[in-house]
Amino acid sequence: MKVLVTGGAGYIGSHTCVQLLDAGHQAVVVDNLCNSSEEAVRRVESIASASLPFHKVDIRDNDGLAKVFDQYDFDSVIHFAGLKAVGESVAKSLMYYQNNIQGTLTLCDVMAANNVHNLVFSSSATVYGDPATVPIKEDFPLSATNPYGRSKLMVEEILRDLHVSEPAWNIALLRYFNPVGAHASGTIGEDPSDIPNNLMPFISQVAVGKLEKLSVFGNDYPTPDGTGVRDYIHVDDLANGHLKALERLQAQPGVVTYNLGTGNGYSVLDMLKAFEQETGKSVAYEIVARRPGDIATCYADASLAKKELGWQATRNVEDMVRDAWKWQSQNPNGYR
Ligand code: NAD
Ligand code: UFG
Repeated sequence: MKVLVTGGAGYIGSHTCVQLLDAGHQAVVVDNLCNSSEEAVRRVESIASASLPFHKVDIRDNDGLAKVFDQYDFDSVIHFAGLKAVGESVAKSLMYYQNNIQGTLTLCDVMAANNVHNLVFSSSATVYGDPATVPIKEDFPLSATNPYGRSKLMVEEILRDLHVSEPAWNIALLRYFNPVGAHASGTIGEDPSDIPNNLMPFISQVAVGKLEKLSVFGNDYPTPDGTGVRDYIHVDDLANGHLKALERLQAQPGVVTYNLGTGNGYSVLDMLKAFEQETGKSVAYEIVARRPGDIATCYADASLAKKELGWQATRNVEDMVRDAWKWQSQNPNGYR
């Protein structure tokens, strides 16, 4: 298959490109590098020993995208490009709606003009808001509490409407739980441009000496140890879900929605202990107040993806923390 990967220089996109190339597909990346580095693309090429054409294009740029479509005969698009920081989305809501919604609309326009109708979209477990029960199934009620989450919900709805008006479209909405870890080689990984918002990169940066200590946001949640529980999933398992989704789109299913998680919940302290045990590094931490907007517990029922995609996560928490550390310790300053 010939696959356009928007946001392919980013964290999840780069890992997915390795797997596309390893599986013998041709991949092409468009990315405006607002949160990534072209070095990631070069490293993907070196891991996969294959070429990965890169075009520095903003997905809101119709003409720029059209020129890329002129050069290749794409079968499908995997659409990772977007902004993803919850706090920043509250402060800069227009920028988030512009980027995540306008970007997707422009992408769909250019796809339609080129007769490409297979799309895999990066959605998020954030669309479930604060779920009444866990594990979370795909048919649970949807809600959002911040512009980032709302942009994901809105794009999901736009893409469902698109299929109603143009049934030729086949669209997979993939709701990721908490992606962590890195490629087992340690050569590509998550490279936050600022102080990390997310737990695992924060832990890794404390361990490597870049940050002093982890703030654990609250230990009074109704969870076994009082800290927040999430469904952490190895980025390579997540990446593999995209290949399975592409295969599924070949059967022309219309719009399909899948949770991509492991189905297991781990607390903040579980992850911290697993990291310390696996790496032999100790990670200083203190308990601080809850982070506004956080929920107590979130984990997936991933049985639909298993049944319909033949996909399930195979890597455990030890794999996640080991690979996260391999990336961080080999690249203390990320791609810089
Ligand atoms: P990332 O920031 O590493 O990757 C996103 C990439 O998109 C970056 O390389 C960035 O430069 C690029 N980009 C952003 N806006 C663009 C634009 N207008 N035009 C072209 N390129 C643009 O993030 P990631 O963690 O790899 O996330 C990929 C997708 O998955 C995002 O849509 C994100 O919202 C979604 N997602 C991520 C998580 C997570 O925790 N990492 C969870 C759920 C969903
Ligand atoms: N946490 C800390 N200290 C930190 C960072 C996080 O204690 O410095 C805790 C949080 O309170 C939470 C857990 O670690 O209990 C995980 O937090 P993350 O920020 O890593 O992840 P979230 O579950 O808050 O959010 C992530 C993505 C969102 C996405 C959501 C669901 O950042 O974009 O998963 O997919 F919407």
